[in-house]
Amino acid sequence: TQVQVGIVGGGPAGLMTALLLKRQGISAVVVETRSQETIRTTHRAGILEDATVEMLTQADIGSRVHSHGHEHEGTVLSFDGERRRIDFQQLVGRSVWLYPQNEVFHDLATAWQAEGGEIHWEVSEVSVEGLQTSSPQISFTDSEGAAQQIQAELIVGADGSRSMCRKLIPEEIRTDHFTAYPYAWFGILVEAPPTHPELIYANSEDGFALISQRSETVQRMYFQCDPDTDPADWSDEAIFERIQSVLGGEDSIQLQRGPIIEKTVLPFRSYVCEPLNWARLVLAGDAGHTVPPTGAKGLNLAFCDVRALIPQITAFFADASRDSAALDEYSRTALDRVWRAQSFSYWATTLLHRQPEENPFSQRRRRGEFEALTGTEAGRTYFADAYTGWKA
Ligand code: DHB
Repeated sequence: TQVQVGIVGGGPAGLMTALLLKRQGISAVVVETRSQETIRTTHRAGILEDATVEMLTQADIGSRVHSHGHEHEGTVLSFDGERRRIDFQQLVGRSVWLYPQNEVFHDLATAWQAEGGEIHWEVSEVSVEGLQTSSPQISFTDSEGAAQQIQAELIVGADGSRSMCRKLIPEEIRTDHFTAYPYAWFGILVEAPPTHPELIYANSEDGFALISQRSETVQRMYFQCDPDTDPADWSDEAIFERIQSVLGGEDSIQLQRGPIIEKTVLPFRSYVCEPLNWARLVLAGDAGHTVPPTGAKGLNLAFCDVRALIPQITAFFADASRDSAALDEYSRTALDRVWRAQSFSYWATTLLHRQPEENPFSQRRRRGEFEALTGTEAGRTYFADAYTGWKA
């Protein structure tokens, strides 16, 4: 296959890039190691910034977000059972949408294929060569076992947090910024009605818990756990007891319980690859940066990347000499946003989680931060602006 842009990775970042390039008259082909069914059924985060919804709407892929998603005009922060609502609409005039990431993926994959876009699912042995030439290639084995090659002019590495593409940026050029956290999230899906109409981000001496939703009959919840937790060691009863205790115990909001249909432990780290481009390669989404899930920024940052990337790829192809200045500009613009989101995600994480070794000062100090944050309009506005996605 001969194409302008070869895209490694058929998740939201890769597919959104492919679709928007096509709208600009730039051809793209996507390769993905997983099956469409696997990605569709892997539960990820669920909060979309309004700018993300706007991108889907403008690209004519927004109809299911509008029919199946839920607009949230605010969220609740809870410390030791004391709840404070952050009113996004009143503070910054924006909302977020609860609409699961795997559904975003489904909408994008459906649109790409309906428009006749080429995508190879379940490929293996993917490699990228010739990045320092004018015709880089993606080689892979397709799902039938046949060797295939895509000749492109530019490669987009959108191959997720375990990206092989980013390792193609030479070590002397690339900085891997990395931070690990001494905890993880235990995520569950519960067959029960919603406990609360909005999300509740909660902290207590037991650490963090998050009440989210999926539908009228299925709910999504998380609580802080040890990174090496085996989900099988936690009974349904013990899970509900823990989440209820973080929410404030018997005197607080009562958790709606039901059968737990999924239990998973989610990894937790911060990572940024700097720069996001080299030679004929650009990185987008998790391939270039990973955030902890606390700020709900992962998918939204991937969409920010794509928004910054499309005009620069267009400029790259408009210029006959294929000057890489446009790609450098992409990296600079995208990283500005990425570092702001890294900072917000890191801050929200340390505000809401318990460290393994804590003294009474630690929990009391966090409570003070909670009061300062939620008790002043400036504090609430910072949170609302960051959470819903900075406009500038
Ligand atoms: C969900 C996940 C998040 O990481 C978050 O911050 C908010 C919501 C979710 O899965 O619904």
